[in-house]
Amino acid sequence: MADKSANAMWGGRFASGPDAIMEAINASIGFDQRLAPQDIAGSRAHAAMLAATGILTDRDAEAIREGLLTVLSEIEAGTFRFSTALEDIHMNVESRLGELVGEPAKRLHTARSRNDQVAVDFRLWVRDQCDAAEESLKALQRALLAQAGQGADWVMPGFTHLQSAQPVTWGHHMMAYVEMLGRDRGRFADARRRMNESPLGSAALAGTSFPIDREMTARELGFDRPMANSLDAVSDRDFALEFLGAASICAMHLSRLAEELVIWSTAQFRFVRLSDRFSTGSSIMPQKRNPDAAELVRAKTGRVFGASVALLTIMKGLPLAYSKDMQEDKEQVFDAADSLMLALAATTGMMEDLRPDPEKMRAAAGAGFATATDLADWLVRAKGMPFREAHHVTGSLVAKAEGKGVDLSDLTLNEMREVHDGITEDVFAVLGVDNSVRSRTSYGGTSPERVREQIARWTELLG
Ligand code: ARG
Repeated sequence: MADKSANAMWGGRFASGPDAIMEAINASIGFDQRLAPQDIAGSRAHAAMLAATGILTDRDAEAIREGLLTVLSEIEAGTFRFSTALEDIHMNVESRLGELVGEPAKRLHTARSRNDQVAVDFRLWVRDQCDAAEESLKALQRALLAQAGQGADWVMPGFTHLQSAQPVTWGHHMMAYVEMLGRDRGRFADARRRMNESPLGSAALAGTSFPIDREMTARELGFDRPMANSLDAVSDRDFALEFLGAASICAMHLSRLAEELVIWSTAQFRFVRLSDRFSTGSSIMPQKRNPDAAELVRAKTGRVFGASVALLTIMKGLPLAYSKDMQEDKEQVFDAADSLMLALAATTGMMEDLRPDPEKMRAAAGAGFATATDLADWLVRAKGMPFREAHHVTGSLVAKAEGKGVDLSDLTLNEMREVHDGITEDVFAVLGVDNSVRSRTSYGGTSPERVREQIARWTELLG
């Protein structure tokens, strides 16, 4: 008696309270509804296979396959009512299918589990993102290639430690990113190739006793083959992690370019002007043009890295096979993919519109004794001096110019000869920034000639 009354004190609340919290923590429909097209494609393939193997009648399979198309059109039209009580996209779709086609809907889940179902849906979704990344990366490469083409011989300072180092060409700098993005494309393509195996038919974890045809569903969904181990198939998310890895490296590249745009567009540099479309003003300082898009591309990188660390952490302690922890994979990947696609689109827009200022870049290229290495190289080449000694002599010449507040090429021949009497008039031919970049003809070097070869190669590769 005493127990019952004690129960009565909190029983009503316990029955509903924890239930609502349980529903809130358990439901994934708030985010996994994005998997609807993949879920329906997977179910349609499964139903067709069940009929082909005689597990379902053709009539039932046809009713299911048709009904699923109706569900999809309802979802696309925005008329579908998602229910949290039904937890996730898989049960939401199946329940609506039941309302539409009745009894056959109950047979769809034969020889299948939500574990292989979610694995197949998510793989299909991530695979699409690899393809989308490839397309977006190509578009950005084209924008960079156009920049490189117009400024293959524009001279700008090349930096190390963000200190002027040696003059380079604008085209060379742009093509550096084309190379990086080319490797990013390779990483997405590699990840796609490895993930393109079908988990469908692995059922809950151990496979099934029904005579299913996994080759058939794999083929139907564009996979290369079925995965060979059912435990692995339902419980690894390495494909999502590979996507996040490729996305992280790509986002890091975009962030570096964004950082350069931020620096180059300052009043101190003025190497480039961002278009109105990709900058904002300040409500208080009328002179400002802020590179917000570049800053946000730089910041989105944090979300992509975060997703990668989050999913690695979610997975690291899980025993085989499926655990509900794995439901937390999706939001991370969705957010990272959305952030990356937006960053790629914004970067492409910025680079398409970007107006570099060749005069400003050229003026800066000559500053900071940027051709000191050319002078040292000349001493080696023309005077047979060992490089270490040439480095020393050049250092003294830089100090002299610095003391006088002039550039190396502003020193007179006599002033130079005070440092080293072997120096002759023809030294002046290597001191200008144009001479400097023109002379860097080694493979992969910054000379306009080499840069144009790379532009031609990439123009061909990008079709
Ligand atoms: N919503 C679940 C997820 O995203 C689907 C798989 C559920 N499987 C299970 N055995 N409860 O992971």
